Amino acid sequence: MCGIMAYIGGRDTVEVLLEGLRRLEYRGYDSAGVAVSVDGKIELVRSKGKIANLAALLEGNKPEGRSGIAHTRWATHGPPSTKNAHPHPDCEGHLAVVHNGIIENYLELREQLEAEGHTFRSETDTETLAHLFEKYYDGDLEKAVRRGLKEVKGSYAVVAMSDREPGLLVAARQYSPLIVGLGEKKGENFVASDPSAIIAYTRQAYLIDNGEMVMLRADGVQVKTLSGKPVKKPVFHIEWDAEMAEKGGHKHFMIKEIFEQPHALRQTIGDRIVGREMALKLEGLGLSDGYLRRVKKIAVIACGTASYAGMAGQYAIEKVCGVPVIVDVASELQHRECVFDKNTLGIAISQSGETADTLQAMRMAHRQGAKLLAITNAIGSSVARESDGLLYIHAGPEIGVASTKAYTSQILAMLLFCVHLGRVREAVTPRVARRLLRGIKQLPDLAERTLEQADHIKKLAKKHQHIMRYLYLGRGAHYCSAMEGALKIKEIAYLDAEGYAAGEMKHGPLALVTEEVAVLSAVVEGPQYEKALGNLQEIRARGGKVIAVANENDEEIAKYADDVIPIPKTEEVLSPVLAGIPMQLYAYYVADLWNREIDQPRNLAKSVTVE
Ligand code: AGP
Repeated sequence: MCGIMAYIGGRDTVEVLLEGLRRLEYRGYDSAGVAVSVDGKIELVRSKGKIANLAALLEGNKPEGRSGIAHTRWATHGPPSTKNAHPHPDCEGHLAVVHNGIIENYLELREQLEAEGHTFRSETDTETLAHLFEKYYDGDLEKAVRRGLKEVKGSYAVVAMSDREPGLLVAARQYSPLIVGLGEKKGENFVASDPSAIIAYTRQAYLIDNGEMVMLRADGVQVKTLSGKPVKKPVFHIEWDAEMAEKGGHKHFMIKEIFEQPHALRQTIGDRIVGREMALKLEGLGLSDGYLRRVKKIAVIACGTASYAGMAGQYAIEKVCGVPVIVDVASELQHRECVFDKNTLGIAISQSGETADTLQAMRMAHRQGAKLLAITNAIGSSVARESDGLLYIHAGPEIGVASTKAYTSQILAMLLFCVHLGRVREAVTPRVARRLLRGIKQLPDLAERTLEQADHIKKLAKKHQHIMRYLYLGRGAHYCSAMEGALKIKEIAYLDAEGYAAGEMKHGPLALVTEEVAVLSAVVEGPQYEKALGNLQEIRARGGKVIAVANENDEEIAKYADDVIPIPKTEEVLSPVLAGIPMQLYAYYVADLWNREIDQPRNLAKSVTVE
């Protein structure tokens, strides 16, 4: 949500900033801007809309300097417009700032600064920072930023520059991600909100923690606490390379990432299943067997797609281990009383590892004495760092706003944990545990086979192109598939879609079914199969079209559905990994027929770092 890129060094500064912004565009894309230090002055260029608009403005009019800051915005305070775009200058344009996060006391600060004579030009909370730093600036930017931030409540990753100190950029972090890229070439350094902005230039980095400040110069980087104490940071090696974050010939990142799922699932399994006995080596899990035996309840902490991956895990853990699991979206969970205590394990699931609501709920869980296990894709992210134990999914960079490969890899990570928990608690026999793990090991190949349905699914999307309203139904293991399928088509095709527990139909939603409605449902073999067929009958009796995702050997299903998308058979608790794939493909092809901006759907951002 919003992206920051800053550079100091000998390259073409504007090009480096634009390249960084392009790689961050998935985080927010309603306006963008750069500020460059040129001969003792700050030149500011900003524009509404995507980075391409900003690049067009800069074409033939490029400020040339050796340091600069840049930002791509996802509006929180003030609508998308040039004046609300970052960077924000102070009154005289001597300073400029870019900021991610929310300044909670900005109205109070703004009133005070206005009373002191500062003139504001935007409706943003960020501009307050520019004026605050101006107020305290006396030739020392580091001091001004430190002093100004003392008055700020809220979350920030901020980078500031001054025309009087062109060789310095000052950055600070409180609850919004910030990373320093250490130049591999001598004489340059970078700051960004996200590693993907800098991986084209360097893979050596400092991960900045809450309460830290960075003084960035071309020939060195100093990290201090907000109170000025020097901090020695370990160098962190970013494993992703720039190519992994390219489209690689695909029309959209989303479809590339859908097809990457077999590989991503293999990466999630990695070498975690060992030998003939299929021992589980979950390095970094950080939760002792004794603790896992004492756990009385598990609470999944996640938002959106990640919470639906949590639902798949809920079904598996309750069934295999007999441990109660609750799943509620993190924005609600963080305000619910009595959920956590020392016998509750919180499992935080997050692709980006920076989702604000997830982090807030995690902090609440910690305060109430729970331990936390993080399932995340983002190495060194806040979610990873604020947990007691970790299971990285290793799915590789996910750029499309709609989560795809992270979803299936998150489910798989939950399944690995489920088998481990079942073994530790002796809730599964060694034979059943091995059977589940054999099934898990087959999932990447089965995902490959599922992807062979892509052309068939594309044809179905075309056939049903006129449908404007969808219901997604699921039961048991596939309640999550219904919720995730509906979310996918809503977010990228902008069509009305609701996900329901199929058993709820008679309690209201059945009234929505007409000939203009299509129902997508995952109906795989398992204890609820017959009931799920019954639900399909109810839909068809009322004229609704039914598209069923069903096991490839299912001979009955054709009688209950207008169209069938076959998926390979696997254990019921593992099957959400496979059923997720046709849901993603169907949403993708429908959205593409509607010519939607699939990778950057309107109003959304990849990583939601504000509550
Ligand atoms: C899914 O397609 C979404 N764009 C969204 O629901 C996402 O899964 C959610 O915001 C959580 O993000 P996270 O996994 O990075 O925490």
